[in-house]
Amino acid sequence: MAILKRLAETARPPVAFTLDGKACSALAGDTVLTAVLTQAEQLRVSEFGGGPRAGFCMMGACQDCWMQREDGSRLRACSTYIEPGMRLRSLPPPAAQVAGTLAAAVAGEQAP
Ligand code: FES
Repeated sequence: MAILKRLAETARPPVAFTLDGKACSALAGDTVLTAVLTQAEQLRVSEFGGGPRAGFCMMGACQDCWMQREDGSRLRACSTYIEPGMRLRSLPPPAAQVAGTLAAAVAGEQAP
C-alpha cells in the first residue's frame, strides 16, 4: 500500500519508470520520492539493519532518501525529479552483483 495519495494536480503528463523491475507511473514534475511513495510503502531498506526508509527532511539535508538506480548509481529521492525510463531499486542488489564482494568473485568464477 502506498504511503502517499495524490489529491491534486492529477492532470500532469504521466512518466513511466520501474521500481524493482515493476512498471510504475508517476506524473511529470514529481520528485523520485513522490513517484515512489505514491506506489510503495518505502523508498528503500536501511543498509544498517534492514528497516524501511521513506525520507525525513524532504529538503536534501538528512540523507535518508538515498535510492539506487539499477545501474548502481545513487540519487537523493527528495531532490531529484523523476525521468521517463528511470529504473529504480528499493532493495539492495544481490551480493553477487556488487563488485569487490566475495560473492561477486565466486559468481564470476562460475560464469561461462
Ligand atoms: S529526505 Fe532528507 S535528504 Fe531527502
